[in-house]
Amino acid sequence: MATPVIIDCDPGIDDAIAILLALASPELDVLAITTVAGNVPLANTTANGLRVLDLARRADVPLAAGATRPLVHVPAGDSSETHGETGLDGSGLPDPSRGPVAEHAIDLIARLALAQPGEIMLAAVGPLTNVALLAALRPEAFAALRGVMVMGGAASGGNMSPYAEFNVWFDPEAAERVLQSGQNVTLVGLDVTRQAILNATDIDALALLPQLGPAVAGMLRFYMRKHVHWYGEEIVYQHDSLAIAQLIDPAILSSRHCHVLVDTGLGPARGATLVDRLGVYGGTPNARWAETVDVERFRSLLLQRLAALAASL
Ligand code: BDR
Ligand code: CA
Repeated sequence: MATPVIIDCDPGIDDAIAILLALASPELDVLAITTVAGNVPLANTTANGLRVLDLARRADVPLAAGATRPLVHVPAGDSSETHGETGLDGSGLPDPSRGPVAEHAIDLIARLALAQPGEIMLAAVGPLTNVALLAALRPEAFAALRGVMVMGGAASGGNMSPYAEFNVWFDPEAAERVLQSGQNVTLVGLDVTRQAILNATDIDALALLPQLGPAVAGMLRFYMRKHVHWYGEEIVYQHDSLAIAQLIDPAILSSRHCHVLVDTGLGPARGATLVDRLGVYGGTPNARWAETVDVERFRSLLLQRLAALAASL
């Protein structure tokens, strides 16, 4: 039976690919998409989620907009340099054919979670603001989720500061709130997502796909510019797709149950995730921390599923 999933996201180019991967996979039943401010402002992440659903011809999947800003501090920047001003630059996708549903993201997640207690996985691949608000405002619904698969965190080097990964950096208080929640939380951090790579040849192959090719390859080529600038290689990290892939095929990642703490101070390590792999702090384990990734298994899954989706449209 397919796992029911809600994707909370901030599309975002890698979010867009992650949504397509989920929609392409019979192992998952995508019940809804919810959006949050992150890579770009909420109006853009919401429009982009709808543009991707249009691309995949999934008018049946509701999309609800959530938080317009982080819980406490509004950070100095976003990721528009990486994803473009729209958040999906290079995709060439038209404006969405519809708007979000009237329900707030938190109300939509709560309603669905209570209708299927213990069954729904929440894939959180943007800042954790919506998830923290759900935990605070609708604790019974939050507890009714089967778990939360988060793309976030970094143990050995960030992408927004030497220590902080973007999703946690953008709203550290929300991430800490989620980690303290007692929910079944898995963190898929940069240590593994930086191994989840597509290269220029992969993108050239994706460009040939019917229906999806121009949009998918166009946005990935845009996304690659920043990667070339930062890492000197013609690659793109598929951060968010790795979290989705783990829901499709749990053999892709191995993880360790340990205590993870977020630095919510205002100093240079704000947004850092302190991952106590050895249990030296004595904190109770509160998350599964992804440690190893089967890179080839992930890459072939992603490429095959995008091809299958394209062929089905
Ligand atoms: C995360 O930050 C965002 O820019 C990406 O969409 C991904 O969710 C990687 O740090
Ligand atoms: Ca994201």
